Amino acid sequence: MARGDAHHWDEKYRATAQALPTPCLPDRFARFADLFRSAADALEIACGAGAFTVWLALQGVHTTAFDISATAVAQAKELAAENEVADSCDIGVADFDEGLPAGSQVDLVVCNMFRDASLDEALVARLRPGGTLAIAALSEVGAEPGRFRVAKGELPVSFVMLDALASGEGDGIAWLVATRH
Ligand SMILES: C[S@@+](CC[C@H](N)C(=O)[O-])C[C@H]1O[C@@H](n2cnc3c(N)ncnc32)[C@H](O)[C@@H]1O
Repeated sequence: MARGDAHHWDEKYRATAQALPTPCLPDRFARFADLFRSAADALEIACGAGAFTVWLALQGVHTTAFDISATAVAQAKELAAENEVADSCDIGVADFDEGLPAGSQVDLVVCNMFRDASLDEALVARLRPGGTLAIAALSEVGAEPGRFRVAKGELPVSFVMLDALASGEGDGIAWLVATRH
């Protein structure tokens, strides 16, 4: 199934290959920009074409990022090089159906618009004490139920072991920012 996922996402990223994204912080996390900037290092899962990864690197945050799509990873690396932050980014292919690749703890873990609840424990374990998790996913709130959508209230419950700073859900998207004590 993951092989099918990789093919599906490769096709999607190939279709947009002409235009690399602009490095950016997703709007929903904008108020946490200073908190994110204060991190020394970060892990991004499902980084896609690297807009968030490269934004973090431009803020001085060394960022490790993974995605299943080799096409997206190539675009993310190109975006990092174009913005002269390739040395601050380690971007690689990984299939999270096989778990989270091993690595050391970081100050910040980010995941924008991807959800695999089987990774929750591993994501928390990758945070240093005091570190921050920022996650957003498709939600059933304000949208039809769907296989890849989180149920109402799911993110705060899934990460109840963290101290929630803020969360929201509506218009088909749920998000959470929380710290590890
Ligand atoms: C909706 S996109 C979000 C991409 C990026 N975070 C963004 O905000 O633009 C979901 C991403 O999850 C990746 N993905 C899907 N299944 C995956 C898996 N099993 N392992 C790793 N990445 C996966 C896709 O390749 C895609 O880049």
